[in-house]
Amino acid sequence: MSIRRPLIAGNWKMNGRVADGAWAQRFRDSLTANGTDILVCPPATLLHLFQGLFAGSPVALGAQDCSPEPDGAYTGDVSAGMLKDLGCSHVIVGHSERRDGHGEGDDLVRRKAGAALREGLTPIICIGEQLKDREAGIAIETVLAQLAGSLPEASADDVVIAYEPVWAIGTGRSAGPDEAQEMHAAIRAAWPGDGAGRLRILYGGSVKPENVAALMACPDIDGALVGGASLDPHVFARLVNLS
Ligand code: G3P
Repeated sequence: MSIRRPLIAGNWKMNGRVADGAWAQRFRDSLTANGTDILVCPPATLLHLFQGLFAGSPVALGAQDCSPEPDGAYTGDVSAGMLKDLGCSHVIVGHSERRDGHGEGDDLVRRKAGAALREGLTPIICIGEQLKDREAGIAIETVLAQLAGSLPEASADDVVIAYEPVWAIGTGRSAGPDEAQEMHAAIRAAWPGDGAGRLRILYGGSVKPENVAALMACPDIDGALVGGASLDPHVFARLVNLS
């Protein structure tokens, strides 16, 4: 069991429409504080809706990406300042679906995390190996190299790391507790400077109510970054309550 306050974050990815108002309301009705920090990360287009829904509630609001720039001629991008205006406290950066799908490298991820910090947002910096790295036995080396390249100058209190093995995302096949714990311990040991004991490291990749308790029993797993299981309010609430 971790000594740090748990954080369970729901990454909704590109899901949800304003017309799904009843679905949105069920999140408000299902999620209650239970000693765990709860974060939901809608698409940017829905942040205004959920800002209103969760105002005054224990549920924090996050975003799924941000520009490395503060403002300017960047068509289609969203700045960390705009996310702050919309009530976000956190922003996911470097998700593998953006690293793979949009060619985002460690340097860009580091710059995005820096932009979030400058606006007072907490970046959730995603790292995780591909299946080929795991099969080649270089998963830890790959992940620690990503960590080193993606970290801005920051205190362990101001960032969150999310370890998401790419082969576990959306596959229904989570890393086992021992395997995830080994990687989390390596990430914590690689944290530069002091504060490693305060750093929150989330696990992501097919987290469900059925496996979250075993993962959360590990000393270096401080929470979860949840995709598919966060889209159903009742499933997500069960997962939060089991964490
Ligand atoms: O960011 C969390 C996500 O990548 C995990 O997705 O569906 O495997 O829980 P899922």
